[in-house]
Amino acid sequence: MRKAIFPGSFDPLTNGHLDVIRRSLPLFDEIVISVLNNPDKAPMFSVEERCEMIREIIPSLGGNGCEISVASFSGLTAHFAREMEATAIVRGIRAVSDYEYELRMALMNRKLEPEIETVFFMAGEPFSYVSSTLMKQVFLLGGRVDGLIPELVEAKMRAKLPDR
Ligand SMILES: Nc1ncnc2c1ncn2[C@@H]1O[C@H](COP(=O)(O)OP(=O)(O)O)[C@@H](O)[C@H]1O
Ligand SMILES: [Mg+2]
Repeated sequence: MRKAIFPGSFDPLTNGHLDVIRRSLPLFDEIVISVLNNPDKAPMFSVEERCEMIREIIPSLGGNGCEISVASFSGLTAHFAREMEATAIVRGIRAVSDYEYELRMALMNRKLEPEIETVFFMAGEPFSYVSSTLMKQVFLLGGRVDGLIPELVEAKMRAKLPDR
């Protein structure tokens, strides 16, 4: 049983995240998209809203033989991975700028849970500049983000900020 978690803020889910998930499907039997409940950040969407959106989008991924689910967690990613009995932590890398942070996190998580490997997927080129933060900034200022976030996510953003 090859089980992975894909932890992140997902505030909100982007097509970049979906690209990582699609790439990971052939490698695992089960992947748990794990939404971090981070009290330090002021999110656009609550953890419940983020999980709900992801749950609605999952069927469109097909799965390719891999079971996809959603969970939320707080605290350490490494501990959550162990709790879930996952053997891998999936992360994505867009550019060199992601590398340093991801390396530190991967090495710390390995120190905490030596049995659990972090597996990196390189961003698909069309999404290599896509981040949740940039999508929110552009959307708030009235710019177009179609093709970069799922339509459902865009609709939820529009509903949240009708007078944008
Ligand atoms: N466009 C993208 N392409 C590839 N990976 C991405 C993209 N956007 C985000 N990721 C990766 O997805 C993971 C979760 O990102 P994010 O939701 O921002 O949570 P976090 O707060 O942990 O950075 C990270 O490993 C991040 O590098
Ligand atoms: Mg991030």
